[in-house]
Formats: sequence, C-alpha cells, structure tokens
Amino acid sequence: MKKIVVSGGRKLYGNVKISGAKNAAVAILPASILSEEKVVIENIPDISDISLMCKILEQLGAEIKVLGKHELEIDAKNVSNCEADFEDVKHMRASCYLLGALLGKFGNSCIAMPGGCNFELRPIDQHIKGFSILGSSCEISGGFVTAKAKKLVGGNVYFDIVSVGATINLILAAVKASGVTTIENAAKEPHVVDVANFLNSMGADIRGAGTDLIKIKGVKHLKGTSYSIIPDQIEAGTYLAAVTATGGNITIENIIPKHLEPIAAKLEEIGAKIKFSDDSVSIVSNGNLNKCNVKTMPYPGFPTDMQPQITAILTQAIGTSVISESVWDHRFKYVSELVRMGAKILVDGRVAIIEGKTELTGANVKAADLRAGAALIISGLISKGTTVIGNINFIERGYEGIVEKLSNLGADIKLAKFENLNNVTYAAG
Ligand code: EPZ
Repeated sequence: MKKIVVSGGRKLYGNVKISGAKNAAVAILPASILSEEKVVIENIPDISDISLMCKILEQLGAEIKVLGKHELEIDAKNVSNCEADFEDVKHMRASCYLLGALLGKFGNSCIAMPGGCNFELRPIDQHIKGFSILGSSCEISGGFVTAKAKKLVGGNVYFDIVSVGATINLILAAVKASGVTTIENAAKEPHVVDVANFLNSMGADIRGAGTDLIKIKGVKHLKGTSYSIIPDQIEAGTYLAAVTATGGNITIENIIPKHLEPIAAKLEEIGAKIKFSDDSVSIVSNGNLNKCNVKTMPYPGFPTDMQPQITAILTQAIGTSVISESVWDHRFKYVSELVRMGAKILVDGRVAIIEGKTELTGANVKAADLRAGAALIISGLISKGTTVIGNINFIERGYEGIVEKLSNLGADIKLAKFENLNNVTYAAG
C-alpha cells in the first residue's frame, strides 16, 4: 500500500510549476464528445481523475490518442453509446458531466449516479431542474440517472443555489439545443469560463460565462479545435498555503493572477508577503502568522477547496481563528486527524474554531478526501517528527506530482510502499 511520509520542520524555497486545472479538465474532456471532429487538448493534468475520465470516454466509444504527457487527441465520431453504467462513474463527481454531454449530443443519456468526495450527499436536483426546462424528462432510479428529450429547446433557468456542476452541465446540454438558453445565478468559477471558452472554440455561442447570467444560443454543429486548459488555481493555492505555514520563499509558475486573488488576499491577511507577475507569483513567509476569520464562498469568494489547507495554516497562527464553510455540509471531517496531531480545533456544524499557535507532532493519519489530504501534507510539513499519510489515492486524484514538487522545494517528503510493517520501500521524492 502506498503512503506519503513527511518529516516536518523545513522551510520551502525554490520554484514550482502548476499543472492544468483538474476541475476544468474533468469537464472539458466529456465536453469534447459534443464535437463531430477531432479535438486536441493541451495542459491536461497528469492525475488519476483524468485517467478515469479517459477510460469512461473510451468505453463510450471515443478514440483517445496520447500526444504527450499533458496532451490528448479525442475523436468522438464513434461515440454512440449513451449509457455510462460503469463502476468508475460512481467514484467520480465529474461523471455527472457525461449526463449533460450525452444529452446535448444525443438527446438521451443514462449514467450511474455519480459519486465524489464523501463530505456530502452531492445532490443533482439543480442539474435535473435545468435539463427539465430544456424539455428533458429525467428520472433517478436503481442507482441510475436518465435524461431523455425528443427535442432540446432553449429555456430560462434560475438556479436556486450557485452550483458549478449544474452550471457546466446545463451549458453542455444547451449548446446544441434549438433557441436560446439563459442561466441565472450561474457559478462564476474560472473552470466554468474555461469550459465555455473551449466550447466556443468549437463553434458554440456562449456569452457571459464568469458572470451570474450566461446566454447560450444553440448551434447545429461543433467542429474540432485545439485548446489549452487553464492552470489550476487550487493547486497553486495549496503551494501558497504550504509555504505560508512552513515559512520560506517560493515562486509559483504558470498561474493566472486574477484566479488567485481571493486566496492571496487571505494569506496576506495571515502574514504572507505575495507579489504577482504576469504568469507567476512569489511568496515570502517568516512563519509568524496572524489569526483570521474565513468564510468560504462561491467564486470570487474564498474557495471551499482551500478550506482544509487554510485550517492547517491557522493552527500555527497566534490567537483564535474562525472558519465558516458555506458551500458544503460536512467538510470538516479531516479535523479529527489534525486534532490527533495536536491541533486545538472545535467543529460545530459548518463552523470550525481554531486555537493557535499549537505545536503539531507527526502521526499516522488518513486522507478523507482530496483537499483533506493536502491539509494533512501541510500539517506534516509543520509538525515535529514524522507523519505517515494513508489513503493517498485521494491526493493523487487532483495533485500532479505533489511529492516531487514539494521535495524539489526542500521538503522532506517521500512516497513509500508499505508491503508490511517491516518491509517499506521509498520512492524518490
Ligand atoms: C465542484 O463540485 C468541484 N468539483 C468541487 O471541488 C467544489 O468544491 C465545488 O464545485 C464548489 O466549488 C468539480 O468541479 C469536479 P456544486 P460540484 O454543484 O459541482 C449544492 C475538489 O476538491 N448542490 O458547486 O459538485 C451542493 O450540495 C472538489 O476539487 C445542490 O444542492 O459542486 C453544494 O452544497 C471537491 N444541488 C453546493 O450546491 C445540485 O444539484 C455547491 O455544489 C448541485 C449542487
């Protein structure tokens, strides 16, 4: 079994390059099946969620050619199967984009109920609301979601809550519907904009992505394209968080400054010194951190996907910090592992109260989900002694080469294969 082993106490120095955005890539790959021609996608992150998505697309009939470590050619002309009933679908939230893409392509789709990080039920009522307004009849039964429409016709959708997935899924279903679809109270995340830009590069007519009002004028055909995915602002934010906690001075390359503003503003409040250039950001931290309050919000608020990472930082800030999680119901499950390392954190529903500064000590811990795993790595970096992190499959879902990237920044971090307690082999950092 693979684990990550971190020995704490080192500051981070040097340069790190950010990969393509996971949450853009897992939507753009299924979106590519809407084209009648080949598409080439670049800057795809080398993470397990992408491998899983490629496996599902091939099972649907897509032909995928690897052009490079971060570049794929996808030919969906032979995609005829509108059913994705695969075991894998159930393990990845982004599988729900197959519903919108297959509905948009065939007017008919049926997928296994998508799963995802286990901090909430992950409802899809808003997705279904949007599809129904376009004329689709939807049904959830026997663990499957089915959406069928004789003809998809544009309509006006007002989302009850801001939902990244429902916004993207409705765009996928509407791009070839007849007439105009409007989405009000739309999500504005950078990856929503990236999906819209990708589809527009294929000839779609989507306006307003990045605002809360998106207009989609249906088109008959979508052609081939060559498209490069935006850098991952949450991966970049995770490295900003790591060095804020450990102290040091790093430069993060291949970023879009605008996407990092909500994260940078909060880390500066905590005490980091941050300077942006065109496509990079430098950060210096002396490890003397101020307490602060955080409320996670849809973009452009502080992102919920940075909540576990900033919790780890605030265990080292002097004073009491309060974190309110306004997006997810149960996104503090990882706190019990931080408490085992010595953190003083009280969780009550969607609020966590953190007493700092507390000395953390290394322990055997387990990642509960992707960003919780990132928080455990950061906690290991600032702990006395050694932390051994299990369930790293969650971390590998969304962080390309995190062990190597942190090791190159000076961290004492290794990938370890535990055959049994007495037989451990270490991979290079
Ligand atoms: C996406 O999940 C991301 N995943 C999540 O990132 C991220 O936390 C989330 O957006 C919010 O930014 C991917 O992009 C693959 P939502 P998604 O629909 O689309 C409720 C990570 O770590 N809701 O924006 O599933 C929902 O319960 C992952 O990279 C409904 O009630 O999130 C939640 O409270 C974790 N009904 C809120 O809306 C619906 O039909 C926001 O969910 C849909 C959502």
